[in-house]
Amino acid sequence: MKLIIINGPNLNLLGKREPEVYGSTTFEDYFKTLQQKFPDVELEYYQSNIEGELIGKIQEVGFDYDGIILNAAAYTHTSVGIGDAVKAVETPVIEVHISNTHQREEYRHVSFISPGAKGVILGFGLQSYDLAIQSFLG
Ligand code: DQA
Repeated sequence: MKLIIINGPNLNLLGKREPEVYGSTTFEDYFKTLQQKFPDVELEYYQSNIEGELIGKIQEVGFDYDGIILNAAAYTHTSVGIGDAVKAVETPVIEVHISNTHQREEYRHVSFISPGAKGVILGFGLQSYDLAIQSFLG
């Protein structure tokens, strides 16, 4: 089972960015926890602040890996290009968010990712990623 977590803009600042919304754990630390919890899963992590790089990564892995766990962050609400990439690839994509975007500003209620996603997990803090991995394990 080969899965990749792809994180979008500003998620490299997890731990210091708005901790009241996103918590105080860095993603690097949380990623180690995930690797320990799922030793049988080949788990990769990629982060970029750049829309085209995120599209490039989705295309690169999207015909080969068993699953993509995508938190496109702010691009979720703006990017037709990332939404199209999710639809273009064969690998199933689970959309995740740390916060419950529906409890937040109205512009966060729209997702260009959801129409192409296999499923959406949001609002469980960093545990949203854990739940997404579990969904691939059936
Ligand atoms: C986020 C929610 C987005 O609205 C926001 O722009 C983010 C993070 C989340 O994980 O809760 O950067 O995707």
